[in-house]
Amino acid sequence: MPISLRADAVIAKEMPLLQEKMATLRRSGTVAPRFVVVLVGSAPASEIYVAKKIKTASDLGFKADLVRFSADATVSEVRDAIGVLNRDNSVNGILIQRPLPADFREQEVLLWVTPEKDVDGLHPENQGLLATEEPRFVSCTPMGVMKLLTHYKIPVAGKIAGVVGRSFIVGRPMAQLLLRADATVITMHSRTKDPQSLARQCDILIVAAGKMNLVDASWIKPGATVIDVGIHRNAEGKIVGDVDAVSVAPVADALSPVPGGVGPLTILSLMENCVQAAMRG
Ligand SMILES: NC(=O)c1ccc[n+]([C@@H]2O[C@H](COP(=O)([O-])OP(=O)(O)OC[C@H]3O[C@@H](n4cnc5c(N)ncnc54)[C@H](OP(=O)(O)O)[C@@H]3O)[C@@H](O)[C@H]2O)c1
Repeated sequence: MPISLRADAVIAKEMPLLQEKMATLRRSGTVAPRFVVVLVGSAPASEIYVAKKIKTASDLGFKADLVRFSADATVSEVRDAIGVLNRDNSVNGILIQRPLPADFREQEVLLWVTPEKDVDGLHPENQGLLATEEPRFVSCTPMGVMKLLTHYKIPVAGKIAGVVGRSFIVGRPMAQLLLRADATVITMHSRTKDPQSLARQCDILIVAAGKMNLVDASWIKPGATVIDVGIHRNAEGKIVGDVDAVSVAPVADALSPVPGGVGPLTILSLMENCVQAAMRG
């Protein structure tokens, strides 16, 4: 059986460090840092994620608010409200919960939160800083994946790392982070020819394709580390990932579970970005 790359061990180690930083902020007399989540509609999965983000931030000592819009809110209504939050000095971090309704164009939405408050790390300026020099805010899910690799001491430098998926939220920043960590990176997407044979070259395979059980043993190099970013609810109501864990387990040396792997580390990384935003003032 492969090592299970679980989030709880990472959280147990890193959360106290964030609590200490928040205590330092309190001692310095900083008014309670404020984090705002913007939610459009009420998709059940989004409701759960938003509640977790708000609760974790509140537990850490943030004033955490939810700004809620109905599913039929107009693009300009939401954009204008975010503009108000951008100008509000009491707000340190803003996150727009995805997915948004179909009439919201992702390319446009990415520009709405001012880069200094973009704790999701998705603004092109922040993605550009990640690609070119010192990053400011790094996209939370890829940051969570790197935390797993670091915590479990999986070597990255000099290794071949594959990323299945090229979204702006996960795949692209993931590839940048792996490059920064000196991996040789192969990015795969829906137009990639024979992704299985490319994936079988990879010492580390990060799967963020949004396709339930897409990756089975035929994608895996024996002994590889496999990180499953996907989250789905299957026909039996069970939470599963993009990786067919039963098929992959006999081949991989390390595998992240779903649930309990990348998901909670996305929230930990978000909190790290929020604390950083609060410390910048
Ligand atoms: N754990 C967490 O905290 C967390 C956070 C965010 C997302 N997620 C989950 O991660 C998954 C990916 O999220 P996302 O936002 O990146 O999804 P997305 O925007 O739908 O992107 C999916 C990517 O996978 C590629 N792809 C689709 N089918 C493929 C195939 N058969 N072979 C190779 N590549 C394929 C797509 O290629 P094209 O670009 O060519 O279309 C696209 O780049 C979802 O299940 C999502 O729920 C989890």
